[in-house]
Amino acid sequence: MKHFLDLASCSSDELHELVELALGLKAEWRDGGNEPMLRGKTLGMIFQKPSLRTRVSFEMAMRHLGGDAIMLGPQEIGLGVRESVPDVARVLSSYVQGIMARVFDHRDVVELAEYSRVPVINGLSDDYHPCQALADILTVRENFGRLQGLKLAFVGDGNNVAASVALACAHFGLDFSIATPEGYEMKAPIREQACAIAARNGINLEMHTHPQVAVAGADIVYTDTWVSMGQEAEASERAAEFGEFQVNASLLRHASSAAIVLHCLPAHRGDEITDEIMDGARSRVFEQAENRLHAQKAILARILA
Ligand code: CP
Ligand code: NVA
Repeated sequence: MKHFLDLASCSSDELHELVELALGLKAEWRDGGNEPMLRGKTLGMIFQKPSLRTRVSFEMAMRHLGGDAIMLGPQEIGLGVRESVPDVARVLSSYVQGIMARVFDHRDVVELAEYSRVPVINGLSDDYHPCQALADILTVRENFGRLQGLKLAFVGDGNNVAASVALACAHFGLDFSIATPEGYEMKAPIREQACAIAARNGINLEMHTHPQVAVAGADIVYTDTWVSMGQEAEASERAAEFGEFQVNASLLRHASSAAIVLHCLPAHRGDEITDEIMDGARSRVFEQAENRLHAQKAILARILA
């Protein structure tokens, strides 16, 4: 594994190893601290969009592993505007040992990887959020002690987070069921990637338009914002389309009685999820957010150490 751009490009074995590594690094951290395996290494972090979790968890992961990180916000390098993506990749990769990029167009992170001399990690693109999905799998594994045979239901937009969670379920042996409004399904090429991996691993992958159907018997119910970064102009139209897709107490009655709730955050309380569920006994959203740190340490250790 040279880069970490999307879960479709990883093998199921590589991803299983990352989760095991994350569990080990998390235990080691809680036991007094990690080995400084990235001493002398710096991660360049390009952000075309805002971030709390990704920015801080990557920076802290580098520090915990003995390395360093440099934040490059939207005003600083003007990726593809002030300077072409290949030129940014060539120059930045001559200074740092790894690049993490949060971009709009997924092709930008692919192009960065193509021209970079050092590993590139996708910290969210319009198509995928692989680091998030790895942390989600870690959270499920910790909560259930296993992954295989569980059912995860995603309710909401078939966007970047749903895509990566679908791919993760296909790799790790969880049945995946998604409910989206018509017109907001996962993109066809990504659906095909997920279906191919699911078929290989004997996993069910279902697409629905009724949340109650998708959530039936689910062990994990997952949602994300209805309005992703870059879609702000569509906010009122989306609010109307997604009204029936809220994760609330009434929807959760269709899930398993032991079901847990995940959300990648930031949450729009009262829209895709109610306060009652976010703050309730089933919610695991804050341990899920913490797990970004541990999952990313595994990615960094694997490709930068
Ligand atoms: N979940 C997530 O990626 O959060 P940020 O946008 O705050 O990084
Ligand atoms: N789908 C959301 C995820 C944020 C972490 C977005 O792209 O804005």
